[in-house]
Amino acid sequence: MAQNIADAQAAGTLRLGGDLPVHRLGFGAMRVTGKGIWGPPQDREECLRVLRRVPELGVNLIDTADSYGPHVSEELIAEALYPYPEGLVIATKAGLERPGPDEWTPNGRPEHLRRAIDGSLRRLRVERIDLYQLHRIDPQVPADEQFGMLAELQREGKFRHFGLSEVGVDEIQAARRVLPVVSVQNRYNLADREWEPVVDFCDAEGIAFIPWFPLAAGPLAREGGPVDRIARRLGATPGQVALAWLLRRSPMMLPIPGTSRVKHLEENVAAAGLSLDDDAMRELDEASRGAGES
Ligand SMILES: NC(=O)c1ccc[n+]([C@@H]2O[C@H](COP(=O)([O-])OP(=O)(O)OC[C@H]3O[C@@H](n4cnc5c(N)ncnc54)[C@H](OP(=O)(O)O)[C@@H]3O)[C@@H](O)[C@H]2O)c1
Repeated sequence: MAQNIADAQAAGTLRLGGDLPVHRLGFGAMRVTGKGIWGPPQDREECLRVLRRVPELGVNLIDTADSYGPHVSEELIAEALYPYPEGLVIATKAGLERPGPDEWTPNGRPEHLRRAIDGSLRRLRVERIDLYQLHRIDPQVPADEQFGMLAELQREGKFRHFGLSEVGVDEIQAARRVLPVVSVQNRYNLADREWEPVVDFCDAEGIAFIPWFPLAAGPLAREGGPVDRIARRLGATPGQVALAWLLRRSPMMLPIPGTSRVKHLEENVAAAGLSLDDDAMRELDEASRGAGES
């Protein structure tokens, strides 16, 4: 097996906002919660083991949100890892409320954002959040009011860098008129390339692009399909091929696969050391564009 040594460092490093180095394979901590991203996880001890294993594997960016659980993910991160290892970057988010399992409601009112960051600071036990992301721009609140409050919170020193989630280029530009944007977190994977222009924009502008649901390959991963074929050829798993494709797609790409199991974490991080040749890239690119059109 080619991909049995897991070290996120092999994915290379990018600097968030030009000054915060992170290895380009992070960890998404949404899955250390219960069904429907609600309440505690089914196997709490295994989730704590997952979180403790994260930095051991060279992963130095953990992505979470106040809404995961809600609160459960942030609390478990602190329980597992505080005091945090040197250089570990924790990115959290605000802007979505949780009426119940699988329910997500935007709330970008300035007073809500201020309350939300104070809650995240307390749960994560930090004085300043490394990367604070607006989970969704609330369509019911003028965008500039949301960005304005975030700029104010940044000036107060409550967070270092700012990122957006599920946004197009126009929205990134609008936010940048109010405060610097260092990252964009949109759904992007082999089976869903809707945000292709945003990937290109981030690449050109030196903004980190954090693709969520990175492991998905949809029908391309079926037995005998392109992802499966390439995986067999390289002695890798289809998930590792999906991650390796993302990592080669752009130097600003920073996938954050998530899991509640140590075995899956190790497998995912090992993808950092998997390099796809030009033929494999071309084959995957063509297949995934075709999949998007059908
Ligand atoms: N900004 C946003 O709006 C947004 C939305 C969704 C997610 N996110 C972020 O993105 C991160 C990743 O997104 P995601 O969790 O939706 O997608 P993902 O990481 O692509 O997939 C996670 C799913 O795949 C399973 N899995 C993980 N590794 C596996 C492996 N090696 N073998 C088999 N199954 C595996 C997990 O189950 P097991 O637990 O059983 O491994 C889980 O069900 C989240 O943790 C969160 O931080 C952001």
